[in-house]
Amino acid sequence: MTSPSDNLKIDGARLWDAIMEMAKIGPGVAGGNNRQTLTDADAEGRALFRRWCDAAGLTLGVDQMGTMFATRAGEDAEALPVYVGSHLDTQPTGGKYDGVLGVLGALEVVRTLNDLGIRTRRPIVVTNWTNEEGARFAPAMLASGVFAGVIDRDYAYGRTDPEGKRFGDELERIGWKGEEEVGARRMHAYFELHIEQGPILEAEGREIGVVTHCQGLWWLEFTLTGREAHTGSTPMKMRVNAGLAMARIMEMVQRVAMESQPDAVGGVGQVKFHPNSRNVLPGRVVFTVDIRSPDQGKLDGMRARIEREAAAICAGLGVGCAVEPVGHFDPVTFAPELVARVRGAAERLGYSHRDIVSGAGHDACWAAKVAPATMVMCPCVDGLSHNEAEEITPDWAEKAANVLFHAVLETAEIVA
Ligand code: GLV
Ligand code: MN
Ligand code: MN
Repeated sequence: MTSPSDNLKIDGARLWDAIMEMAKIGPGVAGGNNRQTLTDADAEGRALFRRWCDAAGLTLGVDQMGTMFATRAGEDAEALPVYVGSHLDTQPTGGKYDGVLGVLGALEVVRTLNDLGIRTRRPIVVTNWTNEEGARFAPAMLASGVFAGVIDRDYAYGRTDPEGKRFGDELERIGWKGEEEVGARRMHAYFELHIEQGPILEAEGREIGVVTHCQGLWWLEFTLTGREAHTGSTPMKMRVNAGLAMARIMEMVQRVAMESQPDAVGGVGQVKFHPNSRNVLPGRVVFTVDIRSPDQGKLDGMRARIEREAAAICAGLGVGCAVEPVGHFDPVTFAPELVARVRGAAERLGYSHRDIVSGAGHDACWAAKVAPATMVMCPCVDGLSHNEAEEITPDWAEKAANVLFHAVLETAEIVA
């Protein structure tokens, strides 16, 4: 397999323009985006992406989870394709780059191949996975999880958003429920370009993250049951306060994570009080604990400890406690041969780089179950992500897309 020569480069200005065009769809309130999955804004973003794929001569397939697969044909009809993608959905207060860089970076790869008239032996499939974020419908990476066979399709269809709307109904409503059986495609390899979403690359002045692993996670949804009662007239001793139990569990999660250092994190990102009225003690509190570690034993140990200590906290307050895991994946080791290819591309192009473990989850984590997979990362300013102020530079995006381009091209094989 020959490496592409180091003068082969993508068009950084075109990539940046595409990112800025996509960012106009589903604007946030502070300069970022709210293009949550299966909303009208998501449909608009998908339509724009489809127009770009059509213009690039790609053939679009859509599966029953709404994932978009845009294929640039290869020369060898028998050869399995190289998949390259990420996601166009965002958090409710998301940035312009999380996911988008990976999808539009993949599109830029094929646009560049078209410009240069380069043919590859293997097809290249630009991919937009549905519901990576898991903000509206838990868990995250839902469609890639179904694709990899670890999440049941009908379970996914039945997931509900905070208004009680079902994933399957919303997918049909926005018109993106495709025909293809989910997971029927076979991949030769999967690549994903993404912003780091953490502070390491910027702090060390490195241009490229060569992603060797991804930490595993558990999302544990707690439902605490107390008794609704007047906040003024109910004596302290008579309260069955689900809100207080939630606060003590939150503090405990922080302590467990701190005592599990290094390489462990834990926190609560979502809390729903019922009835959520100023002068009613909550009768029910539903919240999600998110814990992560690259170490399997540590991750599972944290989960066991949190569940045990939460049960004790609730018992002490007379509060009912039910726990449902709503998201999970084990720590991932990416394919060494593809990781080496990414590292080699960064080296050849003269970019500074380091190996890195992904702190966030990605569709690549599920793709790694069914094919050799890896990722390329670029820095992001102050390591800030899942925030409308998320920022990267055009230069970082261009360099990381060049590394993606080279790694993909080497894998798809240039036809002389
Ligand atoms: C996905 O964005 C995650 O929660 O890591
Ligand atoms: Mn992402
Ligand atoms: Mn994200």
